[in-house]
Amino acid sequence: MGYLLGIDIGTSGTKTVLFDLEGHAVCSASREYPMAQPRIGWAEQDPEDWVRAAFATVEETVKKSGVKPRDILGMGLSGQMHGMVLLDEADRVLRPAIIWCDQRTGRECQEMEEKIGRERLIEITANPALTGFTASKILWVKNNQPEIFARTRKVLLPKDYVRLRLTGEYATEVSDASGMQLLDVPARTWSREVLDKLEIPYAWMPDVYESYEISGKLTAKAAEATGLWEGMPVAGGGGDNAAGAVGTGVVRPGVAFSTIGTSGVVFAHSDRPDIDPLGRIHTLCHAVPGAWHVMGVVQSAGLSLRWFRDEFCAPEVAQAQAEGCDPYDIMSREAAQVEPGCSGLLYLPYLMGERSPHLDPVAKGVFFGISGAHTRRHFIRAVMEGVTHALLDSVSIMREMGVGLDEIRAGGGGGRSPLWRQMQADMFGSRVVTAKSPEAGALGVALLAGVGVGAYASVQEACDAVITVSAPQTPCVADREIYMQYDVIYRALYPALKPSYDAVARILG
Ligand code: XUL
Repeated sequence: MGYLLGIDIGTSGTKTVLFDLEGHAVCSASREYPMAQPRIGWAEQDPEDWVRAAFATVEETVKKSGVKPRDILGMGLSGQMHGMVLLDEADRVLRPAIIWCDQRTGRECQEMEEKIGRERLIEITANPALTGFTASKILWVKNNQPEIFARTRKVLLPKDYVRLRLTGEYATEVSDASGMQLLDVPARTWSREVLDKLEIPYAWMPDVYESYEISGKLTAKAAEATGLWEGMPVAGGGGDNAAGAVGTGVVRPGVAFSTIGTSGVVFAHSDRPDIDPLGRIHTLCHAVPGAWHVMGVVQSAGLSLRWFRDEFCAPEVAQAQAEGCDPYDIMSREAAQVEPGCSGLLYLPYLMGERSPHLDPVAKGVFFGISGAHTRRHFIRAVMEGVTHALLDSVSIMREMGVGLDEIRAGGGGGRSPLWRQMQADMFGSRVVTAKSPEAGALGVALLAGVGVGAYASVQEACDAVITVSAPQTPCVADREIYMQYDVIYRALYPALKPSYDAVARILG
């Protein structure tokens, strides 16, 4: 019997899962670590925390499973995207990693668009300059910590730093590399033009592999520390979203996934490098060879409902305690008693600004259309509908670009709510299913490793062999009609409010 290992290096912690070749999780382990916020809008982590967590969880998983290490055929790495790890000539980490949710690089984004030209930057990297992506973080160090920039010899993404410690190789793969904003996304190689114009040395960049390819082998030291075998193949793996797509079987045109976690994501497979010339949604290389994906990110999706629960839903929380269930179940039950459209109450979920489609850090949350007849349960439903309208913004842009979204595989905490899934089916006009793979990121990279070592013939074949989905929820025509009427109003609210958002931002400084 063969097994595959997937390591998912997330923002709050790392989880390692051992799978058999049918995709069943045999054993797993996880470790948490902190995130530092030295200033408002800054977010940093210690790369050593990721390494410690990865090594400890692999060791624990292998030991607990009782599986013979030699039966583990290979491993894959998934991780939080966009983080910047700078190394000196002796591979010492030069400063804490600046991670994906850090927002300090507004000035550097302007600098990037000035040096390269906005249109040309979108043509090559498939995205406008983004504070979340890695390139602007490197420029921030150049502008603000020149002594560190001068000592830098390599720049790696979070999971790729862990790879270095496992294999001794400087390597990445196309899906995560796309989020550095230094890759020529259509060509799937580093862009000399972007690197030269930003004065980032080409020699700093790791080798780029396709996600299933074997990027290195476990060193004797790493094998000893983890209980695995020296020379074990380590596949490229994927950024967390591409890895999750493979783990839910989003590997063919027409299939997409949505997650409603803290943030919300819509991710669709595409056989072509479709790029939105306005840069409203991201285009990146997929972990499937010869494929790309388009992705929209809503900053405060589940976060909106959590905020509403914590600030306004003490009665629902108390009732959940009494019934021994999750407060979200009670809130969903309340929301289900309200008609679609909430009698005109709309919610804009911009609690943390917004990424797709507005790319606006100063946008703010809004309840619109409050009347004396509205109750708390209307507000709960309005939050759920508002998050779905925000995801629909990205779905609509994808459709404009000709990307198919016939089937959506719903995941994250929000994907567990049948009501929220039905809202997605109704608003997106797609059938919505759930994939039965709770650890989608780890499974995705384990499958990629399986392709790399020859256990499966292709990524699609691996997914077909192990991923099953639930019966679909289909759009309700009458409810869709109501939602679409409100979507016109929802879409008009942001541009109407933009001058007021800017005015508030000026007051707040
Ligand atoms: C994607 C993104 C996040 C991170 C965090 O663009 O910023 O999904 O990968 O996990």
